[in-house]
Amino acid sequence: MHTLNRQWLINARPLGRALVDEDFLMVETPVHQPGEGEVLVQIHTLGFDPAQKGWMENLGGYVAPTEIGEVMPGSALGEVVASNDPAFKPGDQVSGRLGWQDYATVAGQELRKVRNDDLLTANLGTLGITGMTAYFGLEKHGKPFAGDTVVITGAAGATGSVAGQIAKIAGCRVIGIAGGPEKCAWLKSVCGFDEAIDYKAENVRARVRELAPGGIDVLWDNVGGPLLNDLLAEIAMHARIVICGGISRYETGQLPAGPENYFNIIFKRATMSGFIVIDYMTEFPTARRRIAQWIRSGQVQFSEDIQHGLENAPRTLMRLFQGLNFGKQLLKIR
Ligand SMILES: NC(=O)c1ccc[n+]([C@@H]2O[C@H](COP(=O)([O-])OP(=O)(O)OC[C@H]3O[C@@H](n4cnc5c(N)ncnc54)[C@H](OP(=O)(O)O)[C@@H]3O)[C@@H](O)[C@H]2O)c1
Repeated sequence: MHTLNRQWLINARPLGRALVDEDFLMVETPVHQPGEGEVLVQIHTLGFDPAQKGWMENLGGYVAPTEIGEVMPGSALGEVVASNDPAFKPGDQVSGRLGWQDYATVAGQELRKVRNDDLLTANLGTLGITGMTAYFGLEKHGKPFAGDTVVITGAAGATGSVAGQIAKIAGCRVIGIAGGPEKCAWLKSVCGFDEAIDYKAENVRARVRELAPGGIDVLWDNVGGPLLNDLLAEIAMHARIVICGGISRYETGQLPAGPENYFNIIFKRATMSGFIVIDYMTEFPTARRRIAQWIRSGQVQFSEDIQHGLENAPRTLMRLFQGLNFGKQLLKIR
């Protein structure tokens, strides 16, 4: 019987500071039975993204504002247990923005049916939003050419590691920047990056100058702040700078200072563009098919960091900001 629903609610706004346990509140509510056109989903896996902290901060932007007391939003995978939408039947595996809870009752049109195969959980990562981000950020903004030098920050993360491998497929030389020797070794030995720089132990700017004397053609930035500033000083003529994220700002009290090296964008006739992956939603099916082929052919590798238990959802989100996740951060809740 599906009667009781554990839910994590937003309990505070973690603006300008690290997340704490008290930012979340767990409650138990009755399972909401599906109405006309609705589907009841039993969630089994949650996916985590740094943007979730931004949604709690409610600074505005590309998503609807959140409210204190609402179910913590987030992507998830689950199994249909009851359906009033003819497109879904019990037993179907689905993904959607289902939130941190055991059960979600949502309109069928908010769900995507996914295959129940060995790539099931990849629908939250490499075949989900992170993979789409890597694909469209590169194709539409990075525009890599064979022979280009591509530098990626946050390179061992879910998005960065896939972006780097797609750049390799495009024939580029790829340098990843990540925290710690283990992540750097994985980038080279498993993901096929040409070089990796441990930003916690090395002088990034000096190393980039050494490894890319001709400059950076495509700079993919997930981090922002001083790291972005250092790398802007090393761009090549006509460089493309892709601003994907700025995870370094999430725990600080203010926005980072403007990058003083931005003038190099003028000298080098470079372009710098931001993007939000959902703008390319209509093209997701094509990208998903291509990435799935690359996974099957071994050209794209990915890592999933799987934690367990819905009670651990807040601590699992915190892992992203502590650099504890190795690849896509997931949480199995049943
Ligand atoms: N534009 C879009 O549409 C879009 C879509 C999805 C994601 N994103 C953005 O892409 C970025 C990566 O997201 P993801 O889901 O792939 O997460 P992720 O990279 O798997 O996880 C976050 C990683 O960021 C690094 N990090 C954390 N704090 C840092 C700091 N202060 N300085 C430097 N590195 C830090 C850590 O790796 P280390 O151990 O290497 O430090 C951590 O493992 C995020 O900024 C996210 O918001 C953008």
